[in-house]
Amino acid sequence: MKRVAVAHPNIALAKYWGKRDRGRNIPAVPSLSVTLAGMTTTTSVEDADADSFTLNGVLSSARPLERVLAMLDVLWREAGQTGQRPHVSVMSRNDFPTAAGLASSASAFAALAVAADAFLETNLGLARLSCIARRLSASAGRSLYGGFVELSAGDSGTLELAASPLAAASHWDLRVIVAVTTEAQKEVGSTEGMNRTTATSPLYEAWVNAAPGIFARVREAVLERDFGALVGPVEQSALTMHACALAADPGLVYWNGTTVEVLRAVRELRREGLPVCFTIDAGPHVKILTPAVHETAVSDVIASLPGVLRTIAACPGEGARLVGGA
Ligand code: PMV
Repeated sequence: MKRVAVAHPNIALAKYWGKRDRGRNIPAVPSLSVTLAGMTTTTSVEDADADSFTLNGVLSSARPLERVLAMLDVLWREAGQTGQRPHVSVMSRNDFPTAAGLASSASAFAALAVAADAFLETNLGLARLSCIARRLSASAGRSLYGGFVELSAGDSGTLELAASPLAAASHWDLRVIVAVTTEAQKEVGSTEGMNRTTATSPLYEAWVNAAPGIFARVREAVLERDFGALVGPVEQSALTMHACALAADPGLVYWNGTTVEVLRAVRELRREGLPVCFTIDAGPHVKILTPAVHETAVSDVIASLPGVLRTIAACPGEGARLVGGA
């Protein structure tokens, strides 16, 4: 038997950064994302004599394999199964480069959750799968759903925390233009970066206190489809997250010179009258938001900036889903 699922990465307009409960992977702040069409992770789960995980054609071991098997084991237990879980061969492929700075773990765990749920016939439903994916990567909990998705902060000790859909992909025809500023992998992953920020940044508490208010403004602007109201809190969320990461010990500098140049160019475009704003994740790439009608005007300018290697444009897309299999 083989089950195949697809999922897309998502980009947070209101950022998650910091865990309230490390063991249970509970976010300290609420986040709001848009799931992106056009970039896809395809994951298959099928019977095998021994467990294995292949990512983009390369057999993985150690940590990646452990995380994949952890999800299968959780699903198996959730379904009340006590016997030996069947051995599986899991194969996953991204049609977008990992170096694009689009959280590939989000689409990876979302696609895996759906494929494994079908393979094991656990039938847990999206909310349970979102909760399980969230435990492995909080942003993955959001990629189970399409369109605009929110994930609350949780209390320490909570087990049950899932993302929930806020508005369908068709709600707002936005474009996300990714300005790729390096082909290199990031130096410090999000989990390590968050843990260091939580432990050492004197600005961490300020971020945790400010984030719910920023999130509420993003949420309102999304519901109202009000781009003018979206700009301020989206940029503030990203900049405040980076400010608190910069203040960690040692400081987390995710940006490169081009990152700053792109931020300046986005603000210049805005001064010229274009509705456009930026966000940045745990890496040096810049993600630029604009209503669909302005996509070409914005990406032409951004693609021509020195240091920008290329741009990738995406629009709101669907959640994780099965695509067949025998
Ligand atoms: O869910 P993780 O561990 O991949 O962390 C995601 C962190 C950011 O991408 C920086 C922000 C976010 O909310 O997606």
